[in-house]
Amino acid sequence: MVDAPEIKHGLEGVYFTESGICKVDGINGRLYYCGYSIETLAGNSNFEEVCYLLLNERLPSASELSVFRKSLASERDLPDEVVMVIEKLAKSSDEMDVLRSAVSMLAFSDKDAADDTEPSNMRKSIRLISKIASIVAATGSVRAGRGYVRPDPSMGHIENFLYMLNGSKPKDEHVKILDTMFLLHAEHSSNASTFSGIVTASTLSDMHSAVTSAIGTLKGPLHGGADEAALQMMREIGRPEHTVKYIEEALAGKKKIMGFGHRVYKTYDPRARIIKKRLEELQGSADEEVRNLTNIALAAEKLMVDRIGKSHGIWPNVDFFSGPVYTDLGIDIYLFTPIFAASRIPGWCAHIIQYLRENKLIRPLEYYNGTLDREYVPIDKR
Ligand code: ACO
Repeated sequence: MVDAPEIKHGLEGVYFTESGICKVDGINGRLYYCGYSIETLAGNSNFEEVCYLLLNERLPSASELSVFRKSLASERDLPDEVVMVIEKLAKSSDEMDVLRSAVSMLAFSDKDAADDTEPSNMRKSIRLISKIASIVAATGSVRAGRGYVRPDPSMGHIENFLYMLNGSKPKDEHVKILDTMFLLHAEHSSNASTFSGIVTASTLSDMHSAVTSAIGTLKGPLHGGADEAALQMMREIGRPEHTVKYIEEALAGKKKIMGFGHRVYKTYDPRARIIKKRLEELQGSADEEVRNLTNIALAAEKLMVDRIGKSHGIWPNVDFFSGPVYTDLGIDIYLFTPIFAASRIPGWCAHIIQYLRENKLIRPLEYYNGTLDREYVPIDKR
């Protein structure tokens, strides 16, 4: 019998490929997309430009960005059968299930669906970035009883998203803050959903299958669903003065506090820092509910940092402060994880395209710890 190999549970600490798309420095709390720090991009760029950056690994010229924005705008409308499915399911089904099914259906009307060359995958990526935002907005709009609002190609990606969601032209400040949220969620190296998309693509399946896998993976509360869970917790806490008792009891019961902790960051997630700052800036104009949620979030953050942040390396992650920001924008909790998907799609596509350039089927090993050559007992003798 050979010695048992070292098992890397959850593939923790395992490198499976190399890439210049994203650097997550979990020790120093730094994040870079294609070499640009997240602070630089959040302060100077926008989601559309970041999509171009991730797919091409360089910033666009003004004319390249203009062409890219027009391509995104021209791909927004959804096929009739996808709209029908959203209209049938949005009110009665989990929104991530609707999104996963709708994205899978997009393959049927995509003329490039069966072509797995890189130019075709780039075209599909642009369509997916554009159409996933439309699916999410349509889900929200249908659920609110407004039906499918057709896209407006004269608007930018985020402005149009809010327009399709609410049926009215959004305020500039809402577009700006949601753009930042999309930008901050656009990419994060080999996180669980990106990895699952790459695993699917590595079998030489196809782009729609890979992105569908990624959406299914993002759904879980340990990954994309944490922002919903964090806001639910803030609502359960109810008032800032109840925060300490709630968190202390949860920790004593060995419960995880959603929106804290990260596989890679063992310090403050730099995206959480930016979102926290935006949330604090909103305080002057926010309504009572958002101010209350913000105060609960700040009290929980302080306590968690003091209690287990420094000692156990469990700090706020990108999901912790998102809920109050989305609440300020009037976005319902059930859309948080779908919005995460609409933000992360450029990252998924960029990694899938890059991995396919030097594809190697991903197939790790599992160490067998059972017995061998067991006697088969006929069913009437067991
Ligand atoms: N609250 C309290 N304790 C925590 C938390 C938390 N949020 N996160 C980790 N811990 C504790 C664990 O209980 C465990 O303690 P133990 O060693 O005494 O058993 C220890 O820290 C290690 O935790 P693991 O879950 O084993 O670490 P892992 O690297 O697998 O987990 C994860 C990372 C899944 C993100 C975890 O921190 C977690 O569940 N956080 C809450 C969910 C969350 O916010 N997810 C979003 C992540 S960001 C993103 O996906 C966009």
